[in-house]
Amino acid sequence: MRVIEVSEAGGPDVLRVSERPDPVAGQGQAVVRIAAANINPTDLGARGGRFARDPVEPPFVLGWDFAGEVTAVGDGVSEFAPGDSVIGMLHWYDLKGTAGAYAEAIAAPVEWLVALPEGLGETEAATIPLNALTADQGIALLDLAPASTLLVTGASGGVGGFVVQLAAQAGHRVIALAGRDDEDWPASLGASEVLARDTDLAAIEQVDAMFDAVPIGEAAAVAVRDGGTIVTIRRTDTFEPGRGIRKQGFLIHSDRGRLRELVDDVAEGRLKTRVAVTLPLAEAAEGHRLVEAGGLHGKVVLVP
Ligand SMILES: NC(=O)c1ccc[n+]([C@@H]2O[C@H](COP(=O)([O-])OP(=O)(O)OC[C@H]3O[C@@H](n4cnc5c(N)ncnc54)[C@H](OP(=O)(O)O)[C@@H]3O)[C@@H](O)[C@H]2O)c1
Repeated sequence: MRVIEVSEAGGPDVLRVSERPDPVAGQGQAVVRIAAANINPTDLGARGGRFARDPVEPPFVLGWDFAGEVTAVGDGVSEFAPGDSVIGMLHWYDLKGTAGAYAEAIAAPVEWLVALPEGLGETEAATIPLNALTADQGIALLDLAPASTLLVTGASGGVGGFVVQLAAQAGHRVIALAGRDDEDWPASLGASEVLARDTDLAAIEQVDAMFDAVPIGEAAAVAVRDGGTIVTIRRTDTFEPGRGIRKQGFLIHSDRGRLRELVDDVAEGRLKTRVAVTLPLAEAAEGHRLVEAGGLHGKVVLVP
């Protein structure tokens, strides 16, 4: 099968098409023929030699999120059968790049997989796991009091978009910092107020909490009231906001039960996600260039 390998740390050109043996379903695993794989910003970091957790030595295969069809199952698997459509998220750091979603197929433990609901397209589905779970887990860490005011940075993006929706639906007042020329999207997701990307956050009203999904860091923390709360998607962010503000960084963990609920929410129209561009697998480098350039209104999804 074809995969996209990172041949060495560097720019998008280090992404190469490579051949690897077809995966075989081991005990408790299903082989999934991948129909869609989302490009996440963390993939760009890993490609460039920047890792959110343990470093991984090239050559390695990128990609956390995928959707596709089960083609084989191993011993002990009763939950899925060949022909089933599934969505999956692998915790890339646990695999250390030995396998990834930028591939034609993957042998996945069934704990990584949930059924793809009828009516939900594979490209859209592939944008859900990492983004929606990160949003959900970060909101839980914020431990918001009822009807809090929450500033969400990167609110037009994959993670931020889910944060806006989940927080607004939980009854919080969401102030969304939009992406470039993209104010309508967070407004459509339930934000009470949408700020342009270059807004001076020192000049806005003080908020109870911030989900820093860019992350912007110190320049955004000024908007949080004394004693407020910040969650940042960068674990290694070291600045201390002071003023009694609690700040926490985190790295996503797998949660199949919650993923199933979030996927159903998208399938049934309670949550939205969007795809800006689909590209063939072999054009992964172009996909990385697009994500790096920013200004996209949606995710870039590889279609093997
Ligand atoms: N900790 C974890 O477990 C975890 C999990 C998932 C993701 N992440 C991280 O979360 C971040 C967001 O991921 P994503 O998938 O949501 O990315 P995304 O879909 O590319 O969205 C990023 C958004 O942030 C905006 N933005 C970028 N730079 C900005 C700036 N300086 N000021 C204001 N807005 C800015 C972008 O707007 P423009 O398009 O206009 O640039 C875009 O709307 C990434 O850093 C990713 O690595 C962390």
